[in-house]
Amino acid sequence: MATMKALVYTGPGTVEVLERPKPTIQEPTDAVVRLLHASICGTDLHILKGDVPSAKPGLVLGHEGVGIVEALGSAVRGVEVGSRVLISCMTSCGQCRYCQKGITAHCETGGWTLGNKIDGTQAEYVRVPHATLSLHSLPTSIPSRAAVAVSDAFPTGLECGVLSANVQPGCSVVIIGAGPVGMAALMTARLYTPALIVMVDLDETRLNTARSFGAHATVNSAAPDTLSQLMALTDGHGFDAVIEAVGIPATFALCQELAGIGGRIANVGVHGTKVDLHLEKLWDRNISIHMSLVNATTTPRLIRLVESGLLDIGSLVTHHFPCDEGSKAYETFQAASQHQALKVAIDF
Ligand SMILES: NC(=O)c1ccc[n+]([C@@H]2O[C@H](COP(=O)([O-])OP(=O)(O)OC[C@H]3O[C@@H](n4cnc5c(N)ncnc54)[C@H](O)[C@@H]3O)[C@@H](O)[C@H]2O)c1
Ligand SMILES: [Zn+2]
Ligand SMILES: [Zn+2]
Repeated sequence: MATMKALVYTGPGTVEVLERPKPTIQEPTDAVVRLLHASICGTDLHILKGDVPSAKPGLVLGHEGVGIVEALGSAVRGVEVGSRVLISCMTSCGQCRYCQKGITAHCETGGWTLGNKIDGTQAEYVRVPHATLSLHSLPTSIPSRAAVAVSDAFPTGLECGVLSANVQPGCSVVIIGAGPVGMAALMTARLYTPALIVMVDLDETRLNTARSFGAHATVNSAAPDTLSQLMALTDGHGFDAVIEAVGIPATFALCQELAGIGGRIANVGVHGTKVDLHLEKLWDRNISIHMSLVNATTTPRLIRLVESGLLDIGSLVTHHFPCDEGSKAYETFQAASQHQALKVAIDF
C-alpha cells in the first residue's frame, strides 16, 4: 500500500510525523489533493488542549491548505487533475437543508470534517469530500504559501467577525485577539471603512503588526486599566462592533464591557469552558450577540479581492517548516509570541 507522511494528533498535547496510508477516492464527489502547503490554525491548538471532543487521537490534523489535484471522483465539477487549488476549511454538499440555508458549516454530510472527523490537510495527500464546492482554483497571481490563510483565517475573520458584527462605514470596531483570525478581521474590516479599529492582545509584537496592517490604535490587555483605555478611545460610549477572536472567558467578558448601546458582539473564538453572560448588565442596551462557525461561503469573493490587489494577504504567513519538522512548526505556533510568528505553514 502506498504511504505518505502526515502530522498526526497522537494524544493530549502531542503531534507526531507518522507514515499513513495515502488516501484514495471513496465517493464520486471526492478529490485527492497533493499538498504544496498546509498551515496550523488556533483551532488545531484547541484540539491539542482537548477542547474539541470530535477530534480523536490518531487523526491527521489540518483544515487549511493549497495543493494540486491528484485524482478526482466522476461527479466533481469545476477543477481538473493538475489544477492548483485552495482547500476550504469547510466541506459542503450544496444540497442538504443547511447548505440550502447558506449554513454550509453545518452541512449534513460535511461541515468541519477535515482534521476533525476525518483526516486533514497536514499530510502529503488529503481526501477532500464534496470537492466541487470545497476546492477553489487559484489564479496564478496568488502565491501558494500565502494563500493558506484564505482556507480559514480570512473567511472566518470576514464572516464570523466583520459581517456578524455588522461593521459599517464610520463605525467603531474593537478586535480582541491579534492572531491570524483577528488580523484577517482587521484587514477585511478596513474594506468597510470604519472610522476606528482598535486591536487588543497581550503580545506587543502582534500589536505592532496590527498597526502596520492598519489598526488605528492598539491596547495591551495585560495593562490593569485596559477597559478604561479602550472606553476612552470611544469617548466613553463603547464600540459599535466588538469581535472576540481568542476563545476564553476573560476575553468574552471584556467584549460585554466594550459593546456600546446598539452594538454587536461577534464571537469568533472556539470556547472549551463555561463562559458567563451578563444579561443583568446588557439586557436594556440594545445589543446583539452573534456566534458562528465559519461557512466559508465568502472564499470566492476573498480570492477575487486578493487577485484585484484590494486585499494583501502576503504578510500573514511568517514561518514555514518542512513536513519532517511538523512538531517544530507546532511548537513555534504555540509559542508564537516568542518567535514573532503569525501563521505557520508546513511545506510538502
Ligand atoms: N468560529 C470559527 O469558525 C473559527 C474558525 C477559525 C478559528 N477560530 C478560533 O478563532 C480564535 C483565533 O484563532 P487564531 O488562529 O487567530 O489563534 P491564535 O491562537 O493565533 O490567536 C489568539 C490570540 O489571542 C491572544 N490572547 C490570548 N489571551 C488573550 C487575552 N487574555 N487578551 C487578549 N488577547 C489574548 C493571543 O496572544 C493570540 O494573539 C481561536 O479560538 C480559534 O479556535 C474560530
Ligand atoms: Zn481553523
Ligand atoms: Zn450540505
